[in-house]
Formats: sequence, C-alpha cells, structure tokens
Amino acid sequence: MRILDRLNDDWLLATEIHKLEARLWRRSQRDGLRVLVVTSAERGEGKSTTVAYLAAALALHPDRRILAVDLDFRAPRLNTHFGIKVPRPFGAALRGELPLAECILNTGLASLDLVLPPAEGDDPALLLRTPELARAFETFRRDYHLVLIDVPALVPVADASAVLPFADGVILMAMAGKTTRPMLTRARDICVGMDANILGLVVGNLRETGLGYGDSGYYYGYRKGTPAGDGQGESNSSG
Ligand SMILES: Nc1ncnc2c1ncn2[C@@H]1O[C@H](COP(=O)(O)OP(=O)(O)OP(=O)(O)O)[C@@H](O)[C@H]1O
Ligand SMILES: [Mg+2]
Repeated sequence: MRILDRLNDDWLLATEIHKLEARLWRRSQRDGLRVLVVTSAERGEGKSTTVAYLAAALALHPDRRILAVDLDFRAPRLNTHFGIKVPRPFGAALRGELPLAECILNTGLASLDLVLPPAEGDDPALLLRTPELARAFETFRRDYHLVLIDVPALVPVADASAVLPFADGVILMAMAGKTTRPMLTRARDICVGMDANILGLVVGNLRETGLGYGDSGYYYGYRKGTPAGDGQGESNSSG
C-alpha cells in the first residue's frame, strides 16, 4: 500500500504521524470520542493527506477497528492515498440504492476500512442532509473504535458544517506558509458557532518554512478549544 511504503521510507514523517496518532488515540479513548472530523479554513491545507496517514498509523494496531470516511464529494482524495478505485460509492448508500455495508471497503490493512464518495456527480448539499447519513453515523459509531472524516474546507462551502453535528471532535488543519490567521479565526468561529469540540490544530508544511518542527513537516499543537484565538490558551508541541 502506497501510504504504508511512505511511512516505512520516511522515518521523520512516520515519527510525527505516530506522535499525532498516539495522542489522538489516548485522547479519544479517555474522553469517549468516536467520530472525528478533520477540516480547515480553505482548500489545500492537508486535510486528506492527514486523514490518510493518521488512519493508516492508527490501524497498524491489530486490536483496533478504524474507519476513514471521505465526505468531500467535491474533491475526493482518500482513495488515491490507498490506491483504491471506488467500486461502491457512499453516495449510492445515501440515495438508498445500496446497503451501507456494501459501501464499506477494506484497505488491505485488516484494521482499516474506508468509505469513499464517487469521483464526481452527486450533489453534496442534498446527500449530506439525508436521514441515511445520520443512520450511517450510528452504524460507524457502533462498529468502529475511531472514525476519521475527511470533509471540504469550512469557509468556502457549507458541507463541513453539515457534518459537524455528527462529530465528537474536530481537528483543524493549517498549512504553514498558506493559512492566514484571519482565515483560521473564521474556521474556528464556524466550529464554535456549531458547538463543535475543537480538539486541536495540526500544522503541516513546516519543512518548507524552516520552522524546524522535524523535517516531516508535521507539528501538532493544542490551544485549548480555541486555535487561532487570543494566545491565552495552553499550547504544546510533539515535534
Ligand atoms: N504536512 C504537509 N507538508 C507538506 N505538504 C503537504 C502536507 N500535507 C499535505 N501536503 C500537500 O498539500 C497538498 C494538498 O494536500 P491535501 O489534498 O491533503 O489537502 P486538502 O486540505 O485535503 O485539500 P482540499 O481542500 O482540496 O481537499 C498536496 O499536494 C499534499 O501533498
Ligand atoms: Mg481533501
């Protein structure tokens, strides 16, 4: 699997992802969090990449059941990370055309399943508001220890806001050299407005900026509930 090859080959990337994975697993088990949404303010800030690596790293533990769900109907990318075509897209289950179980695909890693949308064509505004989506989340909660959801960016479209009510926590992504503080603040405000539980901020691309949190480019920081806030919160680094 491409993503496992990369984790094997890039020791620094693997180190950062495993630190993030360990922290997320501990927090989710301690606080009873099952469904986590990964989102960001704008496009191209590392959401899909992070979901793919985190899910793979979480699933290297054989006693866990991990699910990664691609709910980005506009630019689905998770399948490319796992080298999987989309034989039975989630859109079909949301339209009631296929049983949900048929849309849950195994990745080849025993502990990791995937749910993938079609490459194009479905209207996310309709599908993300179906009762089938609510039922699917009930099933995911019942059958998996941890569910990571990849969604579009918060500011340009409303898709992520439609998914937030199903989540126990939100991980915000930012890309060093790209994400601006005002946009991150807007993303935070959208989450707060939806009563979402912001778990922390993941910053990628630090290698390019020379900020030095490991050559892998990942850094994981908490700022209690208020990333992009006023700087008064707790902050930690694992890098
Ligand atoms: N930690 C990182 N460091 C450097 N580059 C990264 C990192 N994470 C992702 N990228 C690169 O950034 C680009 C966008 O990544 P990705 O597709 O994961 O973002 P996204 O937020 O899911 O985008 P979209 O909003 O279009 O869904 C890709 O070229 C990816 O390789
Ligand atoms: Mg994406």
